[in-house]
Amino acid sequence: MDKTTSIHGMWSSRLMFILAATGSAVGLGNIWRFPYMTSDNGGGAFVLVYLGCILLVGLPILMAEILIGRHGRVSPINTFRKLARESGVSRHWVAIGWIGIVAGILILSFYSVVAGWTLHYAFLYVKQLAGGAAITDPGATFAALLADPLELTFWHALFMLLTVAVVALGVEKGLERAVRFLMPALFLLLMMLVVYGMTTGFMGQAAAFLFKPDWTVITGGTFLSAMGQAFFTLSLGMCTMMTYGAYLPREGVSIGRVGIAVALTDTSVALLAGLAIFPIVLSFGIDPAGGGPGLIFTSLPLAFETMPFGIVYGLAFFGLLAVAAWTSSISLLEPATAFLVERFGMASRKRAALGIAGLSWLLGLLSVLSLNLWSGVRILDRDIMTFIEFIANDLMLPLGGLLIALFAGWALNRTILREQLSDMPPVLFTTWRWLMRVVAPALVLIVLVRAVV
Ligand code: PFF
Repeated sequence: MDKTTSIHGMWSSRLMFILAATGSAVGLGNIWRFPYMTSDNGGGAFVLVYLGCILLVGLPILMAEILIGRHGRVSPINTFRKLARESGVSRHWVAIGWIGIVAGILILSFYSVVAGWTLHYAFLYVKQLAGGAAITDPGATFAALLADPLELTFWHALFMLLTVAVVALGVEKGLERAVRFLMPALFLLLMMLVVYGMTTGFMGQAAAFLFKPDWTVITGGTFLSAMGQAFFTLSLGMCTMMTYGAYLPREGVSIGRVGIAVALTDTSVALLAGLAIFPIVLSFGIDPAGGGPGLIFTSLPLAFETMPFGIVYGLAFFGLLAVAAWTSSISLLEPATAFLVERFGMASRKRAALGIAGLSWLLGLLSVLSLNLWSGVRILDRDIMTFIEFIANDLMLPLGGLLIALFAGWALNRTILREQLSDMPPVLFTTWRWLMRVVAPALVLIVLVRAVV
C-alpha cells in the first residue's frame, strides 16, 4: 500500500491533527477524573507523581504511538502485523493491538455513562433557564440521578449515538468545528472559574492542596492511580494516538513538536480544572479529600447557583464538557472501527462503528446498574463500574504502553525511527530512544508490580 496515505482518509492539515489529538486527550479525564483522583489520593503528592509520569512516560510514548501509526498507516492490529514483518520480529506484537481494542471498548462503556451525566446536568440548567427548580442541594440532585437507572440509560444511549454518528461519517467531518471553536471556549470558561476561585479567598489553600506534596499519604496504589491517570488523560496505551497518527501527513509535521503541544495543552487543562474546582469546594466548606466521582457534580453547582449569570454558566460548562467528552469518545471508538473496516471492507464503516458502540453501550449498562440496583456487588473491593475503570485504565493502558515502548525501543528498526523523527536533534533522539528502551518500561513495570504485591 501507498506509504503516504491511509485508506481511512487523512487529516487535511497538521493543525487538524493537533486539534483531533488534543480533542482526544482533553475530556472527562481532565475535568471530571483528574480533580477527583487528586482529591481521593491526598492532593499534591499525587499531582507531582502524575506530572512525572506525563513527562517521563506519557510524552515519549505519545511520540512513539504517533510515529508507529504514521509509519504503518493502517489500524493498530494490522500496523503491528506489518511493522513486525518489516523489522523481522515476532508477529505476537499484534497482541498490543488487541489489548487496545478491548481496553477501548471497556473505557467507552463507562465513559459514555459519565458523559451522560454531563448531558443530564446541561439539561437541568436548560430547565432552570425555562423557569424550573434551582439545584439547591447538589448532593441530593446527584444522588437522585445515580439512583435512577432509566434516566442514566437514556443519557448514556444518547451520548453513544452522538459518538457513533461522527465515527460513522468518518472522523474528520464535524470534528473540526467542535475542536476549533468549542474547546477554546471550554478553556476560557475554566479560566473564568479560576478567576472566580480567586474571589472566594480560598485560592491559596486550594493551590497548597494541589501542589504541596504530603508524602505520608502515598502508597503503591497512589503511584498506580497516577500512572493510570497519565495514560488515560493522554489517550495512551490503547493505540488511539497511533490510529490518529496513521492519518497524519508526512510532510512538514514534526512528531516531537505535535506531541509536546498535545501534552502541554492536556496538562494545562487538568491543572486549570483543579484550580477552578478546589477553591469552590473549600469555600463551601467541603472536605477537599475523598470527593469521589461525584466531585464536580456536587461542588460546581453550588457556585453556579450563587454567582451572577450562574445558570447560563452552568449550562455552558456542562454543555462544553459534553463536547470535550464527545471528541474523546470518538477517538475511543475509532481504532476498533478502523480494524473492522479493514477486515470486512470499506462499505461497512457505519455498521462497524455501530457494532462496536452497541457492544460498549451494553457493557455500559453494567456501570449504570452498579450505581443503583447492583451497588452491593463488589469485585476486588470495588463496585462494577470502578472495577472496569481499574482494569482498563490502571492495568490495561499502562501494560499496553509498556509494550508499545518496548516495541518502539527494541523491535522497530532504527532507520524507521530516524526517518519518522528526522527533525529531532541527535541528543534528543538518543534520549527519547533510551526512555523507550529502559526508563519508561522500567517505571511502568515497577508501578504495576508494586501495586500488585
Ligand atoms: N483522554 C480522554 C480524557 O482525558 O477524557 C479519555 C481517553 C480517550 C482515553 C481516548 C483513552 C483514549 F484512547
